[in-house]
Amino acid sequence: MPEGRQVQQMFSAIAGRYDVLNHVLSGGMDFWWWWRMARMSGAGPGKRFLDVAAGTGDSSLALARRGAEVISTDFTHAMLRLGPPKFARQGLAGLIWGSSDADAQGLPFRNACFDGLTISYGIRNVEHRPRAYGEFLRVLRPGGQLTILEFSTPVLPGLKAFYTWYSRRVLPRIGAWISGDASAYTYLPESIRTFPDQRSLAAELEAAGFRGVRWTNLTGGIVALHTALK
Ligand SMILES: C[S@@+](CC[C@H](N)C(=O)[O-])C[C@H]1O[C@@H](n2cnc3c(N)ncnc32)[C@H](O)[C@@H]1O
Repeated sequence: MPEGRQVQQMFSAIAGRYDVLNHVLSGGMDFWWWWRMARMSGAGPGKRFLDVAAGTGDSSLALARRGAEVISTDFTHAMLRLGPPKFARQGLAGLIWGSSDADAQGLPFRNACFDGLTISYGIRNVEHRPRAYGEFLRVLRPGGQLTILEFSTPVLPGLKAFYTWYSRRVLPRIGAWISGDASAYTYLPESIRTFPDQRSLAAELEAAGFRGVRWTNLTGGIVALHTALK
């Protein structure tokens, strides 16, 4: 796991190409995955959500489209600054773009002030996950829900073989070609490979103090959605 500073440098280097690479490398499934994340999160009118590691804001947009008030944070300014023009184009009310570049391991918010907290493709990059879980529990109100969207472990045998080949051979090449940064897209499959599988991530959340932990596999487990309650 690289240090936080290295993660920031990596995302700063690819920020300008991040969105297009997401769409290309996922074959457009990224929109569907964000949509499912927002639906499972319980976001809706009258709900206040924190989207941690919001990056360029597509995860936040999916939440705001459901009518929630969303505060978006990230610790990489180069990513975060690309959000507001997108939101302006969509004309969505309720999206508050976090001005503070916030580390998931030390959130600049008071206790129990969010109905829901989401983190999409961010927790894999966090250096000390238990510290982040502690922060998520602190800022969620009692009964509030954490929703994690993250790459996971494919559960279908044929898909698993294809995905291993794709992520080791194809993805780093396309990533390097479009972003001009070979290391970031070599890190991506490696970080997915070493990240806990569905069951282990659920166990981590329970050990951290969450209750009612569940998960749903999307696209055969390439991506998983975990939900957990404070
Ligand atoms: C793959 S992007 C995901 C962005 C967005 N949520 C999405 O779904 O497209 C991961 C983001 O996590 C952020 N990140 C990684 N570690 C973080 C940390 N410890 N605290 C806050 N943000 C972090 C990076 O800066 C990056 O913008």
